[in-house]
Amino acid sequence: MSAIVVRPSGPLEGTIAVSGAKNSVLKLLAATVLAPGRYHLRNVPDIADVAWMSELLTAMGMRTNRPAPGELVVDAPEDLLPEAPYELVEKMRASIVVLGPLVARFGRARVSLPGGDDFGSRPIDMHLSALSALGATIELAHGFIEARATVLRGARIGLDFPSVGATENAMMAAVLAKGTTVIDNAAREPEIVDLATFLNRMGAQVRGAGSSRLEIDGVDALSPVEHTLIPDRIEAATYLAAVGIAGGELTIAGARPDHMDMLVHKLGQMGMRISPCNEGLWAMASRRLTSVDISTLPYPGLATDYKPLLVAMSTVADSVAIVTENIFSGRFRYVDELVRMGADVRTDGHHVVVRGKEWLSGAPVRAHDIRAGAALAVAGLRAQGETVVADAHHIDRGYERFVEKLRGVGADIERKDDR
Ligand code: UD1
Repeated sequence: MSAIVVRPSGPLEGTIAVSGAKNSVLKLLAATVLAPGRYHLRNVPDIADVAWMSELLTAMGMRTNRPAPGELVVDAPEDLLPEAPYELVEKMRASIVVLGPLVARFGRARVSLPGGDDFGSRPIDMHLSALSALGATIELAHGFIEARATVLRGARIGLDFPSVGATENAMMAAVLAKGTTVIDNAAREPEIVDLATFLNRMGAQVRGAGSSRLEIDGVDALSPVEHTLIPDRIEAATYLAAVGIAGGELTIAGARPDHMDMLVHKLGQMGMRISPCNEGLWAMASRRLTSVDISTLPYPGLATDYKPLLVAMSTVADSVAIVTENIFSGRFRYVDELVRMGADVRTDGHHVVVRGKEWLSGAPVRAHDIRAGAALAVAGLRAQGETVVADAHHIDRGYERFVEKLRGVGADIERKDDR
């Protein structure tokens, strides 16, 4: 097991380069089951989730390799085993997005049902009803989803909620369906646009990505492509949180300010100065931040994945913040860990009330998921003494060289591997 040790730091100064988006690459890798041949992806982060997704592709019969840093080559044969085993889906629920492309290409798929996680129960009903609308027969038995279709036919799909995963599964199934599919109330995240761009490069006909209505004309076949991933806006937000908490001035190279409008606006209200620059995003925090209320919403609203970071920032800001979670029912375990660091945070239903303090107090804490782990580590930048974040492997799922990048801008942070 490994831990990350953080001591009070700041001001931070310098440049951090942001890696490619985790939530994009996982879906692009799922999309490679749609056509045989060689894919070449660039700006691929070196993170555990990519390794697991590559393992899943390998289990189906594909080959993956990383010829150079940031590059990933996938070789997809004509025939694949259209199955996602329990061991891999259980580790990473995002693997559910292979369901749509597998059934579209092979007419059948057998994918383990993902379990719950720290975010709450996380149902997949919308994924399944979208695939049923396209003509797939779905059965749940022995912990697996069995989907079959002789032919998928374009249909009108109205999502009850703009679910990212359901939009992606439906989109990847519809690209090979007969006729036109319309997905209403589709998710609009930049990662959805990246997937649509990738699919269109492969020969798909997807219109409207980035809006809440997607129109997809099915095509007979697709072909493999090269693609450079968009940057990870949540990773960029993590470094913005770090400089907000520790103070200083950072350039976040490669960040896309246009993907982070609402966050940049919020952090501006909290007292940070942030502006686009040639390299990406420039940010400065020259005084203690001021709390503001925060409410998570589907894109272009404030992402739920930013929330642990914003709560961490609020624990050391001046005044009181009310943070409202509108996407997931759970996702509060990190609050108890922040309380162990002396933070004044209370949860009430889907609200969190944070009363800011000048300083936190370093403590042993535990990372329960990727973003919670990162939030605890950046909170440690303003915690007297030493903060030890256990279960740092959660952070490795979504962050490439997390410790090294923060050390590079002056953070007092190190990794302790307990072998
Ligand atoms: C993705 C992201 C995750 C992010 C989330 C919301 C990946 C790998 N993960 O997760 O980091 O926090 O979007 O931006 O891209 N829901 C249902 N039924 C369904 C599907 C979803 O009720 O069939 C609910 C969920 O429980 C949740 C809400 O819809 O309350 C949004 O979930 P969704 O957008 O699907 O999240 P993910 O795609 O799982």
